Amino acid sequence: MKIAIIGSGGREHALAHQLYKSKKLTKIFCIPGNAGTEEISKNVDINFEKFDELYDFLNNEKIEMVIVGPEKPLVDGVVDFLESKNIKVFGPRKKVAQLEGSKTFTKNICKKFKIPTAKFKICYTKEVSFSYLKSSEFPLVVKADGLAAGKGVYICKNINDAEKAIEEIFNGKFGKADQVLIEEFLEGDEMSFFIISDGKNYKTFNTAQDHKRVGEGDTGKNTGGMGAYSPSSLINDDLESKIINKIIDPTLRAINEMGEKYVGFLYAGLMIKNKEPYLIEYNVRMGDPECQTILPLIDNDLFEILNSCCTSRLADQEIKWKNKKSMCIVLCSKGYPDEYNKEVEIKNLEKKNNFNDKFIFHAGTKSIDGKILAIGGRVLNFVNTSNSYLESRREIINEINELNWEEGFFRSDIGYKVINE
Ligand code: AMP
Ligand code: GLY
Repeated sequence: MKIAIIGSGGREHALAHQLYKSKKLTKIFCIPGNAGTEEISKNVDINFEKFDELYDFLNNEKIEMVIVGPEKPLVDGVVDFLESKNIKVFGPRKKVAQLEGSKTFTKNICKKFKIPTAKFKICYTKEVSFSYLKSSEFPLVVKADGLAAGKGVYICKNINDAEKAIEEIFNGKFGKADQVLIEEFLEGDEMSFFIISDGKNYKTFNTAQDHKRVGEGDTGKNTGGMGAYSPSSLINDDLESKIINKIIDPTLRAINEMGEKYVGFLYAGLMIKNKEPYLIEYNVRMGDPECQTILPLIDNDLFEILNSCCTSRLADQEIKWKNKKSMCIVLCSKGYPDEYNKEVEIKNLEKKNNFNDKFIFHAGTKSIDGKILAIGGRVLNFVNTSNSYLESRREIINEINELNWEEGFFRSDIGYKVINE
């Protein structure tokens, strides 16, 4: 079978790498892919946001199944569109993709189904927001609705910060805003919890912890993710059953009651406080870099797992996990998440291969005339699986130092909460 993966990041290279091992696949296309996916699949330079062009290509190549990496096409309805053309797609339809696309959609489900989450208020005007702030306790969190690529969330220490955030949101910093969300600040430990679902049944899909801030010790600006480790050290049977009973099951019930079904990965961003889980947000896809961190722990054919979801057969599909710890450190362009140089060559990369326990997944890279160029902020994901996070981190840092890419920087403290040196 021929399949296509939509996206161009480290998540999509990790998916392509794992799918490449499947004997059931004859060809993988990545739309548009990066320099890493080019080595194991065929990159196709079309704009996947133009659904008609996308369909023409899939149809011409007789591609039978599509796996959608990022959230934007899901929220825009690529699944509904391709299904209407009889192409199998792994990912949720537009209506349920609002779990990520609209924070108020999710909060309303939380309210109706009593899912534990931060207390919140949806405000439709600046004036109402400002007067609500007067009776609020600080710190609190102000959020823009809709997709804001990891931005659009302000942790506000006082009323001045909060008023500024509300001004920025209503002034259109993240696109046209009809409302803001003002919510209680939750103190605790964060954890990412994943499931995979075929619309009828679901299975857990491991846990992870990422580091979103650019600086050591989780300081500085927010980024797409500077590194991650899996599994999370917080997870245990008791917590897992609370997450499932109080958060995941009621959410899927809500989806079913809407006459919809959930197919794809569902990523719950959680805060764990006094051993109780609270939902911070849903993402309707795998995390990046969590995907790069988790997939190398799978011990069976990923294609069979994803295909079983597209054909409602997940219940019969085994998912085997290696009993190992996995870590990912992201090598970024100096300056990220602000300005950075583009089209900078990365030498020595061809000497590195993806082995059993060591992987380099590309993100913002492009191959031109045999040279690999950095074109994005997050450039390469170094992943290592071993018996200890400390060992994995040492191995990765050796690898990055060996590459010696002068335009890059990385966080050397990924996993510091679970590593006692
Ligand atoms: P989000 O885009 O909703 O995931 O928010 C980005 C980050 O902001 C999260 O990963 C948390 O670290 C933080 N955050 C969001 N909401 C809250 C909250 N209610 N309390 C504490 N931290 C939060
Ligand atoms: N690593 C966070 C995300 O993918 O949203």
